[in-house]
Amino acid sequence: MRSTKIVTLGLVTVVLAAAACNNGPRREPGKIYMPDMAYSRAVETYADHSNLTEAGIYYDATPVAGTVKRGGVASFPLAKDAAGDTANYVASKQVVNPLPALNEKDMAEAKRLYNVNCGICHGEKLDGNGPIYKGGDGPYPAKPATLVGDAKYENMPAGQMMYSVTYGKNLMGSYASQLSTKQRWMVIHYVKSMQPGGVKPVAAADTTAKPAADTTVKATK
Ligand code: HEC
Repeated sequence: MRSTKIVTLGLVTVVLAAAACNNGPRREPGKIYMPDMAYSRAVETYADHSNLTEAGIYYDATPVAGTVKRGGVASFPLAKDAAGDTANYVASKQVVNPLPALNEKDMAEAKRLYNVNCGICHGEKLDGNGPIYKGGDGPYPAKPATLVGDAKYENMPAGQMMYSVTYGKNLMGSYASQLSTKQRWMVIHYVKSMQPGGVKPVAAADTTAKPAADTTVKATK
């Protein structure tokens, strides 16, 4: 009884092995149901891609609309208003800064980005009096917005600032090509933090002993 079992098992193994290595290694797939998967249609990086669509390949080398870079934030949700229209500029007041309050390190970077990109006009003190405006004596003809010291801009919601920084405002150009969406929101966090009642950077966790907490009420937003 036992030997019959072993013989049967042996036979099955031999038949299976024979079936597996039928005609030596197979280099061609048998039936091809999906030729695109069997034979790749390679797209060479620097090749001429002009006639790809004719060949049935829909590839234009740009990421899908709405693609967000790893670690980045989604692009500003509102489109630029057509000339003479202000619908999205007004609606931008509702757009909330998607970045949480910055820590000290990110705030230092946001300040650096502001000083590099905006300080020349708006001033390192955010007083609208940077070196190229100089109270009207500089070469730049338009008065940059007084981001600190003018209630109009102190009350301007972050989303509306972002709209103007993204698409430009009158003589101020767009900063969308110089700063990523995330960097622009960081700069807005910095501007807001410098305005009265602004949120100061979140301190990194600190475990050293501190004096008792100050319980006086402060103007915070
Ligand atoms: C070349 C000079 C210049 C630079 C650089 C510049 N701005 Fe401006 N900005 C202006 C001027 C001029 C205005 C006033 C525009 C107007 O209302 O006519 C302005 C207006 C603004 C406003 C108010 C927008 C509104 O909707 O009324 C904000 C906010 C602002 N700038 C932020 C920034 C930030 C942030 C940067 C850096 C990323 C920056 N600006 C860089 C010149 C500049």
